[in-house]
Amino acid sequence: AIDIAKLRDLSGYVTYDPGYKNTGATKSAITFLDGEEGILRHCGYSIEELADKASFLEVAYLLLNGELPTQSQLDAFEADVKKYTVTNEVLLKIEQVIPTSTHPMSELSALVGLMEGQYNPAETKENILRLIAALPIFAAWNYKKSIGEALVAPDQSLDYCSNFLKMMFAKPGEDYKVDPIVSKALNKLLILHADHEQNCSTSTVRLIGSSHASLFSSISGGIQALFGPLHGGANQAVIEMLEEIKQAGGDTSKFVAMAKDKTSGFRLMGFGHRVYKNFDPRARIIKVAADDVLTALGVKDPVLTIAQELEAAALSDEYFVARKLYPNVDFYSGIIYRALGIPTDMFTILFAIGRLPGWISQHQEMMTNKEPIGRPRQIYVGSPARAFVDMAKR
Ligand code: ACO
Repeated sequence: AIDIAKLRDLSGYVTYDPGYKNTGATKSAITFLDGEEGILRHCGYSIEELADKASFLEVAYLLLNGELPTQSQLDAFEADVKKYTVTNEVLLKIEQVIPTSTHPMSELSALVGLMEGQYNPAETKENILRLIAALPIFAAWNYKKSIGEALVAPDQSLDYCSNFLKMMFAKPGEDYKVDPIVSKALNKLLILHADHEQNCSTSTVRLIGSSHASLFSSISGGIQALFGPLHGGANQAVIEMLEEIKQAGGDTSKFVAMAKDKTSGFRLMGFGHRVYKNFDPRARIIKVAADDVLTALGVKDPVLTIAQELEAAALSDEYFVARKLYPNVDFYSGIIYRALGIPTDMFTILFAIGRLPGWISQHQEMMTNKEPIGRPRQIYVGSPARAFVDMAKR
């Protein structure tokens, strides 16, 4: 029989799995994902039902507590978040001197990291609420600064999505009415991004947290991981790509051909997924929502037609079929964000606001389970041992 204990002692025996394609890094009770069948569930509830029936804070409560809230639990949770929906004057001063050339995601990560010095890390419950309340406020600060407009204070009488939209789009002192179509669409988008098991940014949050760095540091790092164009940053990259196709005359076949050419360095952004190999259930919901929202708002965006044509062209191409490359969550989300008035460089911020409850719940689970520090091994392929060469002899 194999003596596992002995095998563990033999240094040099490690699993080589670049990109952790087949490595289960943890046991988790939060999110179930079946990539072959296109199934996504949070604590047992399907993403389709949650996106259709729940509010974003209801899903946040579910992720954080493992159960859907009763009405009174939800009321209390919403009231708790509102309590912390206030302006942090110290961080606002810092935000105002961050140059506008800084990408909104870098600024968001910096502000979240700086929350570290503002609050006692031992106040776990309060810090969770502070983070959920703070991200939309930080996003609105960034937007107002970018357009040179005065800030609109948080409005605690409004629900989470409506307050964010008011801080973003109201002029100071204006009697602003939030369009319910916009607020409903935003609610759905945030839910669709709320958690996605051990993706790159969530794994980053867990890895940073495993060193017992604070929740703020962990989330700040998660935001940076999400920023990359192969992950959450793809939503910005998709719109930029669709715009480029439009500028080039709208011929999608040229771009499909370029994506197939490995020497081009170009990929179809918003296509492909590490785990989903038949369809991304979130992309299906978002595709329908994009059509509905644009129709309801009376927005005609030629880029939507280009996206639909690009999808059809790719899905009938042998290259994409053979590699099981389908539109992912980021393919149509940007079209909705744009219709809601969100600027392109803030799309990934919206993803971060949505993903925050997932990050926090995964961090919480890791801490509760007392998981060990994350520390992968490697296969060393460098030089064998050699004697130091004196400077004069090199
Ligand atoms: N366009 C063209 N070819 C692609 C694409 C694409 N978007 N995605 C993957 N491929 C090809 C690869 O070149 C590779 O081809 P090969 O087998 O001939 O070498 C094959 O499909 C497998 O791709 P990998 O890169 O090995 O797959 P991986 O699981 O490592 O990557 C990823 C997944 C990063 C999502 C990739 O599909 C990609 O870069 N997509 C575009 C960026 C994107 O949309 N990211 C958002 C993902 S969803 C999210 O994070 C929220």
